Amino acid sequence: MHQISIDISKATGFVDPEVYSKIKAEVVASHEQLTKGSGRGNDFLGWLKLPSLVTEDLTRKIKADAAKMKASSRWVVVIGIGGSYLGARAVVDALSHPFHSMMDQKEFPGLVYAGENLSEDYHAGLLEVLDKSDYSVIVISKSGTTTEPAVAFRLLKAHLEKKYGETDAASRIYVVTDAAHGALKKMADEKKYSSYVIPDDVGGRYSVLTPVGLLPIAAAGFDIDALIKGAKKMEKVCQSGSADENPAMVYAAIRNALYLSGKTTEIMVNFQPDLFYFTEWWKQLFGESEGKENKGIYPSGVGFTTDLHSMGQYIQEGLRMLFETTLSVNSPRTELRVPFVDGDPDGLNFLAGKRLSEINKMAEMGTLLAHVDGGVPNIRIGVPQINEEIIGQLIYFFEFACALSGYTLGVNPFDQPGVEAYKKNMFALLGKPGFEKEGESLRKRLE
Ligand code: PA5
Repeated sequence: MHQISIDISKATGFVDPEVYSKIKAEVVASHEQLTKGSGRGNDFLGWLKLPSLVTEDLTRKIKADAAKMKASSRWVVVIGIGGSYLGARAVVDALSHPFHSMMDQKEFPGLVYAGENLSEDYHAGLLEVLDKSDYSVIVISKSGTTTEPAVAFRLLKAHLEKKYGETDAASRIYVVTDAAHGALKKMADEKKYSSYVIPDDVGGRYSVLTPVGLLPIAAAGFDIDALIKGAKKMEKVCQSGSADENPAMVYAAIRNALYLSGKTTEIMVNFQPDLFYFTEWWKQLFGESEGKENKGIYPSGVGFTTDLHSMGQYIQEGLRMLFETTLSVNSPRTELRVPFVDGDPDGLNFLAGKRLSEINKMAEMGTLLAHVDGGVPNIRIGVPQINEEIIGQLIYFFEFACALSGYTLGVNPFDQPGVEAYKKNMFALLGKPGFEKEGESLRKRLE
């Protein structure tokens, strides 16, 4: 099987059949709204057809820029936050050698990230390391005005210009931004940076299949054609309107039915540390799309078996508002078996000769059944292997399911009005012109 699959047999027993049928009918209506473009936020549906619309001209330019970075740089600093950061990191981390940073011989530049936080120590430490190495910068911001990446770009641009001079620095800067607006676009035009456009009708968290994701992924040496091919396959699968066969509809329906039966927190589970950032990407996709109007499933994540020794206790016996969605990976990329030990000092010879993946799989199955017995429904996403094509499928599957799920919940899955509140307060506290009054009253509240 080279296609992801979904198994909800360990979840349906937790929902009222009548509610579930009703929700399935609503998901069919959501599918129609989405594919006909008649639902809320329908000016942000460009991602729907992205896999089949990516042009060869675009991928050629991306590959040429990636080759330039490979030739000139030991590191590529990717500047961005939220949807302009998590997709690339999710894919690159999933596909990279788990100890990439410790390997001496590297064919491609290593990716490091900036502007996804405001920590002084983090950015000072990064600049310290970059003093000693050749590097390039990819700066990604759709609006071109987001504070965190804008501050990081200031720092790195100044560092690059000091290190290489203005002209050489410009040849090491790659910009991904809006077609017409924002400071970044203006700067890219003036300084003649190699630049890419994020289509107007694609929002940040749905943008991984634009240059937002494709450029860093190609720079790290991964096959963007295969990624797009996988997404294209899923684009086709998701077109069908059958609520029992279309995997995105199945997922959207069961999670909404679970929500209505009191399961208000979804935990994405993986048994592969490489998928940590895939879970982070998924958390942003669903959290920012659905958490509004005082509703929405709270998306969270765990990495097993590590977290079985921390969060496992809560999941097994804590408050019963949880359900799990497991990314169940079938085949590892490597082979490693448990050695036989004479005398069996640790009593583990019953495992001798077994692959670690077999032990991990039994941990997964055992956990699944234990958690289901403890009142935690499970949705299992079958992932044949972690490679570009399968990751492409997963990305499109979750994006499509998220849009359907948001419509079924009754929200606009393409806006994020809630993220403005912290920005307003931060600007006021920092004394941005125009925010003086708010600043004064906020400071009083902090005394
Ligand atoms: O999904 C979203 O829209 C957000 O997470 C944005 O991607 C994030 O706020 C960064 O915005 P920008 O790309 O404009 O810097």
